[in-house]
Amino acid sequence: NEERSFIAVKPDGVERGLVGEILRRFEARGFKILALELTHPSEALLRDHYGDLSSKPFFPKLLKYMQSGPVAAFVIQGKGAVKIGRAMLGATNPQDSAPGTIRADFALDIGKNVCHGSDSVESAEREIALWFPQGVKPYARAVD
Ligand code: CMP
Repeated sequence: NEERSFIAVKPDGVERGLVGEILRRFEARGFKILALELTHPSEALLRDHYGDLSSKPFFPKLLKYMQSGPVAAFVIQGKGAVKIGRAMLGATNPQDSAPGTIRADFALDIGKNVCHGSDSVESAEREIALWFPQGVKPYARAVD
């Protein structure tokens, strides 16, 4: 089950200097970083990314939050990238996240939950195409 997942450090995480720590955890776990970009997502991209949430009462706040600063977007590849990626982030609401997860270690508020991870292989591929429209190259193996 070699797969890819889309992970993003949200503006609060970037502002607080957590990009290196979060990348470090994914690298230490054994995932390969396939793509990495600091980006200011447009409203159109966010509406597409969060399309299933557009009717939620918190949606306008979510758009504002996600545009409050740069987002560090990256793609990980490895065994069980989607499921393990989600487990490493912790529950969406940091109040429910298990100790040792990124959200439990660095957040308290569901409205500022530091990071995002794809919830299925299908959404991972959709989100990767959305955030990296130029395409993502497969991980290059070292030549001997
Ligand atoms: P994420 O994993 O990016 O998926 C959807 C996002 O919506 C979630 O993390 C939160 O940032 C946000 N979200 C979900 N529920 C709420 C809520 N009740 N209030 C504010 N933001 C929320």
